Amino acid sequence: MKKIAIFASGGGSNFEAIAAACLSGEIEAEVVLMLCDKAGAGVIERAERLGIKALVLEPKSFGSKSEYEERIVEALDALQVDLVCLAGYMRIVGDTLLQAYEGRIINIHPSLLPAFKGATAIKDAFEYGVKVFGVSIHYVNKELDGGKIIAQRAFSYEGESQEELETKVHAVEHKLYIETINKLI
Ligand code: GRF
Repeated sequence: MKKIAIFASGGGSNFEAIAAACLSGEIEAEVVLMLCDKAGAGVIERAERLGIKALVLEPKSFGSKSEYEERIVEALDALQVDLVCLAGYMRIVGDTLLQAYEGRIINIHPSLLPAFKGATAIKDAFEYGVKVFGVSIHYVNKELDGGKIIAQRAFSYEGESQEELETKVHAVEHKLYIETINKLI
């Protein structure tokens, strides 16, 4: 069975969707690690509730980004991780992690890339007046939201509420991430 690690920094709804799909057999893989770079993030509690090993590593406790990532690579190697899924991991992946795992790290982004890269994609697209929104899943390289696209899904939204839009984006994300992981593994 393939082994997945999920990296997250925030609430972790994508983490939970993937982890639950693995636990139910919808994805034939095991989530062996949830790595979080922020103490107190909601995703940590979700991992505990689902019985998934959580590793919380704060970059500020390391001398450099490469030392931080060396520790991550060590954890991934020890668990023999096949696929790393970034799910709201608010950090640019550096050389150390890329050298070890490039081609095996994917990310989900809440826009139709290459439009609206960055941390505030939903808000930016909404304020721009976009009528067709979407979600992208891509390989991770050294450019922010820049790697080759694996899957995308678009939907129309012409409502007034950014909150309602966010709910729709997350629902599409959860489905598309599960489908894409299944295809990749
Ligand atoms: C998602 O919208 C994802 O596309 C983006 O960060 C958000 C994470 O949400 N990269 P959650 O923590 O999985 O709920």
